[in-house]
Amino acid sequence: MDKKTICSILGPKGGVGKSNVSANLAIALAQMGKRVVAVDLDLGGANLHAILGVKEVRYTLEDLILRKVKTLEETAIDSGFKNLRVICGGTDVHNIANISFQQKVKLINHIARLDCDVVILDLAAGSSYNVVDFAFIANRNLLVTTPEVTSLMKVYTFIKSAVFRLLTVVFREAKVVELLDIVERAKDVTANPHLKSIESVLNEAEKISPKAVAFARKKLSGFIPDIVINRVQSKNDAQVGTVVSKLLKDYVGIESNVLAYIPEDEAVKKAIFTLKPVMATSPQSEFSKSILKIAASLIT
Ligand SMILES: Nc1ncnc2c1ncn2[C@@H]1O[C@H](COP(=O)(O)OP(=O)(O)OP(=O)(O)O)[C@@H](O)[C@H]1O
Ligand SMILES: [Mg+2]
Repeated sequence: MDKKTICSILGPKGGVGKSNVSANLAIALAQMGKRVVAVDLDLGGANLHAILGVKEVRYTLEDLILRKVKTLEETAIDSGFKNLRVICGGTDVHNIANISFQQKVKLINHIARLDCDVVILDLAAGSSYNVVDFAFIANRNLLVTTPEVTSLMKVYTFIKSAVFRLLTVVFREAKVVELLDIVERAKDVTANPHLKSIESVLNEAEKISPKAVAFARKKLSGFIPDIVINRVQSKNDAQVGTVVSKLLKDYVGIESNVLAYIPEDEAVKKAIFTLKPVMATSPQSEFSKSILKIAASLIT
């Protein structure tokens, strides 16, 4: 790995396994000799440290937001696992979940400067600004979903909203109001069926500012989510990744990669009761084996 890998863990809805994947993936990478920092960015719903089994939380992200510390680095606490530090999310929803855009930009800069080889970002569910803005600083994005139809439907809306947010940020920076107006109109598909696909939005915007659209296209082409299907139970579930990938290509115009299938595994639930992560309690479990494969693919 030449430069730092920033890997975001995304999910279209709650409870699909983002935090368990984040915690155990961080341990796996640390075991492979990488210096890892796992950051809990589920602002307001932080539980990554609990999954890792960290009992004493000395600092949280909130300390940086409230300027009790100067750098994010200072909030990275020992996880108890060699090579792995964790940055805990704050608990006061008022302080942390409502951070301003400027605070977010500062936080993003701090994340980029963390002294490590890999940063794992455990994000909240859905495509709120606090999720998407962090996802776009990552150079790898793991999109975790379960195989149920309800989850899969949400993947499409999730990625589409993420792309709209990216366009809004890029076009706002370009300071061309008409571009933002196109994105807003595209959100109402019934009133503006001609702006249904992302490509049609970009084509319309290109007439106004080819430069801004070229920049947006460049950013979008770098966003290639790695799909992880978690809690797989039947053989049929094993085709779900391909279906999701095709959905994203055909309806949002986004390339993606089917990275892994993680089986439903009792070891995950058992680990919760021991207050330790699965990689520690059951390193030979199917869950842990899948996580090790994902880790290996991230560092090659
Ligand atoms: N492969 C698996 N096998 C069995 N149980 C699993 C598996 N993956 C996750 N779980 C269970 O699913 C639940 C939700 O997991 P987790 O907290 O990691 O999800 P999340 O996506 O981070 O949720 P949230 O959106 O609330 O933050 C946990 O109780 C966990 O034990
Ligand atoms: Mg979580």
